[in-house]
Amino acid sequence: MAYDYGQFTKDIHKKTGINLFLYKEAQMKRRLTSLYEKKGYSNFRDFYTAIEKDRQLLNEFLDRMTINVTEFYRNEKRWAVLNEKIIPRLLNQNKNLKIWSAACSTGEEPYTIAMILSNYLPLSEISIKATDIDDNAIAKAKLGVYPERSLNEVPEAIKKKYFSQDGNFYAVSPEIKNRVTFKKQNLLADHYDPNHDLIVCRNVMIYFTEQAKEEIYHKFSEALRPGGVLFVGSTEQIFNPAKYGLETEDTFFYRKK
Ligand SMILES: C[S@@+](CC[C@H](N)C(=O)[O-])C[C@H]1O[C@@H](n2cnc3c(N)ncnc32)[C@H](O)[C@@H]1O
Repeated sequence: MAYDYGQFTKDIHKKTGINLFLYKEAQMKRRLTSLYEKKGYSNFRDFYTAIEKDRQLLNEFLDRMTINVTEFYRNEKRWAVLNEKIIPRLLNQNKNLKIWSAACSTGEEPYTIAMILSNYLPLSEISIKATDIDDNAIAKAKLGVYPERSLNEVPEAIKKKYFSQDGNFYAVSPEIKNRVTFKKQNLLADHYDPNHDLIVCRNVMIYFTEQAKEEIYHKFSEALRPGGVLFVGSTEQIFNPAKYGLETEDTFFYRKK
């Protein structure tokens, strides 16, 4: 039988636990084909044979498939809604918020959440869990040092308060860094903790198949306490939130019933 993308996804699943079958096929195939062509291979079979022997190539494959693009205060207007409307309501019900940044990439998102929460709570009372499938992204997140372009949307006062500049790079202050705990997690395979007040999951669902998305929305809903909120990316509106026991609180914010 010919070795095709389907066989490649099976082999990768066995090797890494990542099921490419749950990612939109045309898009993923295009990304991976352009990588293997750049590396001098002409089909998925040769590419996989090379990945088996070369740890660095496996890393490049992981890097290409994960797409880590992110920035602080990404889609700033949405974060204003979180700050002005969602957080005050959540704090009204419960001062000890359980917060999860899912698919946090290199950390800009969970650090943004900590900066926003610091408008309401002493830093010592803030604790955020942040997860991603990509070890390299998590390592960068823990380091907390970013190029200037990652800070484009950061308000000037926050930049002064929570970053220190070193040449062209900006380091997140230790008091913010200490509020976030990073952990590796695969949203498509691993267990979700229950009773969250806020789950932020932005700009990753766009890569998943419809079937995978539905399953994840169910799991997010189960991972929220009643009244808790799921905050999604700005192209990721949920078509039928009621199906998952959710209702729209604002555009891109869904409250668990
Ligand atoms: C485009 S970034 C989004 C970062 C951030 N949430 C934002 O909106 O700026 C997508 C992230 O999803 C992660 N990712 C992809 N598949 C995943 C999975 N199955 N489980 C957890 N994270 C995943 C990637 O590693 C990448 O860091």
